[in-house]
Amino acid sequence: MIKQTIFGTTKDGKEVKEYTVENANGMSFSAIEFGAVIRKVFTKDKNGEIADVVLGFDSVQDYENDDTYLGAVVGRYANRIGNATFTLNGVEYKLDKNDNGNTLHGGIDGYDKRVWASESFADEKGEGVKFMLVSEDGDQSYPGKLEIAVKYTLTNDNELILEYTGMSDKDTICNLTNHSYFNLAGHDSGDVLNQLIWLNSDFITEADEQSITTGKLIDVKGTPMDFTTETAIGDRIDADYYQIKFGAGYDHNWVIKGYEKGKMNFIATLRDKASGRKMEVYTDLPGVQVYSGNFLKARIPGKNQAKYTRRTGVCFETQYYPDSINKPEFPSPILKAGEEYKTTTIYKFIV
Ligand code: BGC
Repeated sequence: MIKQTIFGTTKDGKEVKEYTVENANGMSFSAIEFGAVIRKVFTKDKNGEIADVVLGFDSVQDYENDDTYLGAVVGRYANRIGNATFTLNGVEYKLDKNDNGNTLHGGIDGYDKRVWASESFADEKGEGVKFMLVSEDGDQSYPGKLEIAVKYTLTNDNELILEYTGMSDKDTICNLTNHSYFNLAGHDSGDVLNQLIWLNSDFITEADEQSITTGKLIDVKGTPMDFTTETAIGDRIDADYYQIKFGAGYDHNWVIKGYEKGKMNFIATLRDKASGRKMEVYTDLPGVQVYSGNFLKARIPGKNQAKYTRRTGVCFETQYYPDSINKPEFPSPILKAGEEYKTTTIYKFIV
């Protein structure tokens, strides 16, 4: 079942639609045209009690004022580009320095701040909404007119499928992700430190003090970055370990085991023991930034006035590795003119 409503209006007077999609099991999600934001995800716990397990806001203005990317699609290039510079086909491109002299999540006017076009759909997999955006040649200083779409499908297996497609008229770089903060005890339940993570990964990409990858991989064995067995987020989050210190907690890219272009991998789980809720993450991308909300500070009240203080949500941002355009040893984020950009990430909810 799909319901479409008007969520609000931007400061420039653009109307923002919201879609709410519910499946046969009573699971639902809501998404808005602003930033292609996933605003709500309602799932049941072991007793059938429903809760909203993603952080979000109640007005367009809050999303316009937000700087934590709650639920949004970020682009053209998710995560960081060191020194806000990259070279493609011999041409150097200078981007916005919006993060300590580096570029974060595309730049100042990211895709998370745009009003996307939208349409609802129903197909053999389920029902959902498709958001579309045209990013002109030179937008945020990236080359090529890039036309992208992200399709959110809710299945009757309680999967929320995120399918990204795109095409550029010139060679460019493209790295799109969703920045949802999950809290399986409910978006307004406090921190996520007791929730457990498992990751199908033996390595992180080493980061420097500014969270720029160095090009080196670190074997997680024996470090607080090891989630090869399920571990509570809070167990080692303040450990005396240089990577943890640089990120002020978890804010790192894990290298996905078994990555091959186009192949879906089961990469992560998040579990809340008390409610029995569990989320599984699948993707065909090479990396995932696990970000434990270290910089959240409840600057703007959340849905129903919830206070999103430090570490009240955790993101699983599936992606090409940070700064991969400047690290030839990493899987390449280059999108050639006329070639299709196509990636899929699935968040599946179980109890
Ligand atoms: C980054 C964090 C950043 C956050 C912004 C994450 O993807 O890795 O360092 O603070 O986005 O909300």
